[in-house]
Amino acid sequence: MSDRLYFFDTTLRDGEQVPGCQLNTVEKIQVARQLEALGVDIIEAGFPISSPGDFNSVVEISKAVTWPTICALTRAVEKDIDCAAEALQYAKRKRIHTGIGTSDEHIKYKFNSNREEIIERAVAAVKYAVSKKVDEVEFYAEDAGRTDNEYLARVVQAVVNAGAKIINIPDTTGYCMPWEYGAKIKYLMEHVDGLQDGRAILSTHCHNDLGMATANTISGVQNGARQVEVTINGIGERAGNTSLEEIAMIVKCHQATMPVHHNINTTKIWPSSRMVSSLMNMPVQPNKAIVGKNAFAHSSGIHQDGVLKNVQTYEIMDPKDVGIDENSIVLTARSGRAALRHRLSVLGIEMEQDKLDKTYEAFLKLADKKKEINDDDILMLAGAQVSEESHIKLESLQVTTGKGVTPIAAIRLKIANEMFEAAGIGNGPVDASINALKQIIRREMTLKEMTIQAISKGSDDLCKVHMQVEHDGHIFYGFGSDTDIVTASIEAYIDCINKFKH
Ligand code: KIV
Ligand code: ZN
Repeated sequence: MSDRLYFFDTTLRDGEQVPGCQLNTVEKIQVARQLEALGVDIIEAGFPISSPGDFNSVVEISKAVTWPTICALTRAVEKDIDCAAEALQYAKRKRIHTGIGTSDEHIKYKFNSNREEIIERAVAAVKYAVSKKVDEVEFYAEDAGRTDNEYLARVVQAVVNAGAKIINIPDTTGYCMPWEYGAKIKYLMEHVDGLQDGRAILSTHCHNDLGMATANTISGVQNGARQVEVTINGIGERAGNTSLEEIAMIVKCHQATMPVHHNINTTKIWPSSRMVSSLMNMPVQPNKAIVGKNAFAHSSGIHQDGVLKNVQTYEIMDPKDVGIDENSIVLTARSGRAALRHRLSVLGIEMEQDKLDKTYEAFLKLADKKKEINDDDILMLAGAQVSEESHIKLESLQVTTGKGVTPIAAIRLKIANEMFEAAGIGNGPVDASINALKQIIRREMTLKEMTIQAISKGSDDLCKVHMQVEHDGHIFYGFGSDTDIVTASIEAYIDCINKFKH
């Protein structure tokens, strides 16, 4: 009989710390509900003391979901813990996640302290969190990856004795080698009373700076960790966190030899990945394991030939197991509101009638340009409706471009209900359109980065554009989607401008 492996999702906390990935409360609730449908055991909903928005999101997510435990992050500071306990008041099952840095680098440079004092602060924080009468307290030893094992075992023993039920061993800097991280977990399992008898469990939390987050997490599980901290699509600080989908599928594909099983409904992986990607404006790299656009695409002749003879020649997973159903209903211009509502709910999105009406309008416009509308398109439309509040709107754009002509663009914008028109030329259609737009919006702004991606396949496909525009010393992130690349680019540029402080 294998042990249960608990999935702790931190997409809404560690994932949301990424610049440009911030969600509003409505969007966070949407993601939290999807995580619940996915079968996640614990949702880290935020860091309540960090901002009123984060506090409010923890409150609202607590009300919105039923089964998963809701977790709130704190430093080892009483006012943080008070704030987390208050934010968690409506959660059916509550967890406070408190902790402190334990590596010599953190102790010396961050806290100007010493090892003994850090143990005292850790114990005091755990005791204080326990006194808040939440269901469980988790402790993190920040930068445990670079903390020497003997000292780390003393810290862990002290916080287990103080009442922490889950001990998080973060490889905060993503520095560990898989065997080193595994050996760390093994050392703790062997040297801390209470870990063998289940009084407390160890948790992995691995960052991906050297591309080893998944390998380190699996190594931790093989050596005794029974909780994994993960994010959808592996998003997170810098190079990101361990990705949920990779661990879920590794455990499933290697069920016979892994010491654990889990509760993740893997068929919800694909829609969850797409929802997070579109709401957070964070494209998924095409070759990303499990959820990349090419993860199940066989392009070389030899592979295609093998797959046609028998899929097992080159496929270790059935795409349906991660929620990719090539035969899933494709909507067309003849599909009604009910079909759209049904498809949205399969994808984990429930909408109020007025929002559904607006999404349906956008759906019909898209279906006119593109014959078949798939799940990615629908998620895109739904995402666009969620973040529809905008001060500046693109009314029309006409561009003349081609070989041997100077690209010229005519643009019409609606700004606070007034129409403005201008024209511009440039070295390409996007440049011409941006120059036209700058005739109307005369601000210092520079395009810093732009990525264009097709959503699925075909020349009639919807394309998405992510942009970064610098203004007033800050970078603003924008997103646009359309069947027309230039329109999508200008929509993304306007999305950035709408985020400037007016
Ligand atoms: O990476 C890390 O150490 C963290 C902790 C705050 C848990 O995210
Ligand atoms: Zn982290």
